[in-house]
This record gives sequence, structure tokens and C-alpha cells, in this order.
Amino acid sequence: MCGIVGYCGPRKAMPVLIQGLRQLEYRGYDSSGVAFLQGDSINVVKKQGKLVNLENALPSRAASTIGIAHTRWATHGGVSDENAHPHLSGNGKVAVVHNGIIDNFVDLRRELQDKGYEFKSETDSEVLAHLIDYYLDGTRGPEEAVSAALDRIEGTYGIIVLFKDDSELLIGARNGSPLIVGVGEKEMILASDATAFIGLSRQAIFLDDGEMAVISPREYRTVNRHQQEIQKPVEEVDIEAAEAMKGEYEHFLIKEIMEQPDAVSRAMGEGGRLLKDFGTAKLGGLNLEKRDFFDINRIHILAMGTGYYAGMVGAGMIENLARIPVQVFDASEYRVSNPIVQRDTLYLAISQSGETADTIMAVKEVQNKGGRVLGIVNVVGSTLARLTEGGVYTHAGPEKSVASTKAFTSQSTVLALMALLLGRMRDVPVRRGKELVDALLELPNKIHRTLGLRDRIRELAKKYKDYQSILYMARGNQYAIALEGALKLKEISYIHAEGFSSGGLKHGPLALISEDMPSVFIAMDGETLEKDINNIQEVRARKGPTLVVTDSDDPRLEDVSDDLLRIPKTDEVLSPILTVVPMQLFAYYVALELGREIDQPRNLAKSVTVE
Ligand code: F6R
Repeated sequence: MCGIVGYCGPRKAMPVLIQGLRQLEYRGYDSSGVAFLQGDSINVVKKQGKLVNLENALPSRAASTIGIAHTRWATHGGVSDENAHPHLSGNGKVAVVHNGIIDNFVDLRRELQDKGYEFKSETDSEVLAHLIDYYLDGTRGPEEAVSAALDRIEGTYGIIVLFKDDSELLIGARNGSPLIVGVGEKEMILASDATAFIGLSRQAIFLDDGEMAVISPREYRTVNRHQQEIQKPVEEVDIEAAEAMKGEYEHFLIKEIMEQPDAVSRAMGEGGRLLKDFGTAKLGGLNLEKRDFFDINRIHILAMGTGYYAGMVGAGMIENLARIPVQVFDASEYRVSNPIVQRDTLYLAISQSGETADTIMAVKEVQNKGGRVLGIVNVVGSTLARLTEGGVYTHAGPEKSVASTKAFTSQSTVLALMALLLGRMRDVPVRRGKELVDALLELPNKIHRTLGLRDRIRELAKKYKDYQSILYMARGNQYAIALEGALKLKEISYIHAEGFSSGGLKHGPLALISEDMPSVFIAMDGETLEKDINNIQEVRARKGPTLVVTDSDDPRLEDVSDDLLRIPKTDEVLSPILTVVPMQLFAYYVALELGREIDQPRNLAKSVTVE
């Protein structure tokens, strides 16, 4: 996973690199490091742990105007200073930062060791520094040497290379891991993600797989795998510095939870993606002709983690409104299951980052078999956004906290728009369509009201924080929210949590219930409330503490629950977009009470760019 950044220009490189790393820390935070030219040598400083450790170790006056930097999520080799990047070639001529995995590194390492190269780390990445150095043999220049080295690499990479003997040159290359060139006024920056350019440049060139960028302060060149020069468009990237900052909040997570009314509104194009008079939605980016919609007999959704649960929510909405069968797949499993790709199936990939390797590989598998994939992606210009044949941006704004919240509600909102659009093209009458449009437009306000429960949820968090394990239960279209609620809690509080269908309770999980095992129930008004109340009672009868989230006024809920949270009513189809909010707040406040590293939970990273 990892984040990489490189700078060359008139400014001092160090503050630019550190600011870039701060923005990229969401990609991994096991260690970080920088390499910069000082006099006629490359200096490397690298430290395990959070970025602040590196900052404390940096020389106070580093005047260098060129350098590269890295923030790591460990794959090969433990978390240590030695395994931190950048890696330097033995003679100090080449420094490399790498994001990705080199599959054939064991063979390459052995080959280089036989040639006399000494390795200082256990990483796969170090082979790159030595290999480039090896090819920098006097007959090849830096560009040819990098190219020759990359020809030997099997696996994925986004790399940036710094050379001791060229004080104005950086070379970047990509294969499977993102790399973007930021073009400034007499300065250039390379990074895994355009947020690293904030305040420097809005002009970006997105490298594709197999491409290399050769940059110096005043110029850049892009070349393909055969070292032929290629022209790439310079695109405007729209990143608001303020959106990527914590502002008044203690953590990004609570900021992002609180931003959901706006994020959901943006997912609806502030209303512009809805056609009120026709009771339908308008999603231009899908690139589908009207008649294409009629040919869709089935939908397969591919995603991971929270995106997968949003997919489950969307599947319910589409099946309910459009009566098209939808299956949601864990993308990592889909890819290895030799999927049956069919012409009348619409494939949807959901991803906040647009860089999730498992989802990307599943999409490529579908595309290789002739399938057409649309994306629901948040990060503009990300790999998935570019790979898919069309799609919808969620426009949730930067999501920095590792635990995904506003991306989920925005993805679910976009899926609701899709369900409405497909439904209106099939059986949903205009009257029902208009009802849904109204309900969608009221959602931001209802999310806002649900967020008003946060003080009460904070109190509940104090009560529940010391349990070892918590179960989440719901049925129907809320089942996905039970799973998402459990995921949120475990990833940021480290309390074990599992989601089950309320109906499944008696088929096994009930054995877990005791006074030490609380259950969070989502029990919504409607046909299944009766059954939910029975399930809650079954837990109660076995002394299990119960926390119930509902939109119902049924007084029996007061009796059967230890704690009750009432949220506003919305259209039943949209209700998962509301019920998830108390789940997010509960996880946040439990983690806060436990003093966890909320935005950067242990062992995780925001973008999972390795399979
Ligand atoms: C959970 C979480 C992860 C991501 C998953 C997919 O809070 O953040 O489960 O949802 O890694 O990431 P994207 O959406 O970037 O593809």
C-alpha cells in the first residue's frame, strides 16, 4: 500500500515532502522516510512508527530542493527503521521509494547478491535500488537504467527514483500502483495521490500502467514501456485544502461522520441528479444508451469491506424498485472464482479510494472476459475511475480516516439513485418515483437530526466500552447495517464484534448470549417489527444486554431494550442510510473512551493496494 512523494523545484524539499506524507499517511503508517540531495551525496533519514518520529529525526536545516519520501504499510519485512524506505543502493548513487509488491524479489535478490550487492533490509523494494544501480553502468543513462530494471520486475509498483549524480532529476514509474505528476510553476511533484499536491498545484498528469515520468523543475516527459515519448493530458484536480484538514474536530473520523448531510447531498448532485417532475434520477456518467438499460437482466456488484456492505444496501434497493436480480461479491473471491461473465449482466465496482487491488483485479477479470463495468468511486481520477467504462462519482470529498463512513452513505445514496432510475424504467410509477425523490431530498436533514443523538451515544459508549465482544443483529435491508456496524466497531475499538441476521440468531449465535455479551439490534417499523421484538426478547431472556435502534414508536420496544435510540423515519428503501449513522457514532465514541488511535487503527491502512 504505502504512499510515495517526490519534489524538485525552487523550494526547500523537506517541508513539501513532509506535508505530502501527512496527506498520504492514510495509505500506511508503519514507518516513514525521506532521501534528499545534500552536497554531493544522498542523505536518507527513516524511522519506524508515525510520521512525527521522522519529523523529530530530521536535520533542522536541510536546504535541499530535491527529494523523495515514503510512508509504509509493511508487506515484506517487519516494521523497523531498516525496512523503512527510501532504499539506497550500496554505493549511494540511487535512492528509491516503492509502493507495491515485487513478486520475483527473491530471485532478483539472490542474483544481485551473487554480483556482490549487500542488502540492508528484508524488503522486496530494496532490489530496485540495487538493480537500477546495476544497470547504471556507464552505457545507460538514468532513464535507460530505470527502464531496464523495471523490465526485470514482476509485480506491482509505483516508484520514484533519486540520483546522486543528477541534482535536478526524478524518475517515476507505475505498474498497478498509482502515480501522479503535479505540474507547478518551475516545480514538479510526483505522488501516489493528488492530495499530496495541496497548495502546490492543481495541474495533474495521471500515469497509466507501464508509463514513466522523467521530471526536473522546468520540464517533464512521459514515456511508455518502450521508452517512446507519449503525450498525456494535463488535468485539473479539484482538491480543497480545507476538506483534507481536521478543522475543529479531534479526529477525521468524527469530522467525516458529521459531514454526511453534505456528502449525501453532493452524491445527489445537490438535487441536480434528481428529476423531480419525472420522479427519477439522472446519471450522465453511466454512458449507457436508454435501450442498454432494458438489456440488463442481472447486476453483479464487486467491492470490499464497507463498499461491499454499501453494495448489499444497493442490491436491496435495486431489487425492490427495479426487480432486477443483484448479487454482491467480495471482489477478492470473485476474481478467483472463474466468474461467469455474461452480456446481459451489468457489473458495478464500488470503491472509495478507487485503488483497492482486490476490486481492480476483479474488474480486470470481468473486462478480460468481455464484460462492461461501471464504477461508483469517490476519488476522482483514481485507477478504478479510469479503468471502468463509465460510472458515478460519489463526491463525498476526501475521506482520511481509515474507517469509512461518509463514503458508505454516499455510495448508498448513489445506489439509491441508480435503483430509482432503473425502477422508473421498469415498474415504478411516477407517483412512487416522486415520493422517493422527496424522501431523498429530505435525507440530509434527517441525517443531521440523527447526528443530534451523539451526546446520548457517547454516554452509551461509556456503558458498553468494557465488553469483550458485541453482537449486531438486524433483518431485511438492515442486515447489511448490522454487518457494517460490527465492522466499524472492531476496526477502531478492537472490540470483537459480529453481525448476524436476527432470523439467524436461533440457529447458533444465541449460544453466545449471556450477561457479558450485549447485542445491538436494528428493529425498524413495518412488517418485521413483531419478529424483531421477539428476537430482542429471546436475548433478554438470557440476560443479554440490548441496545436497540429504531424508527418505531411502539412502546414495547422500551420494555424489551436496555437502551433505545430513536431515529427519524424515512422511506423504508432509504432507511439503511440513516440507521448506519448511530452505528458509526457508537463505534467512534467507544474507541474514544478506550483511547484508541481512531483515525489510524493498528495494522490497517486506508487504501488496500495489494491483494
Ligand atoms: C472499513 C473500510 C474498508 C474499505 C475497503 C474498501 O471501514 O474502510 O473495509 O471499505 O478496504 O476500500 P475502498 O472503498 O477504497 O475500495
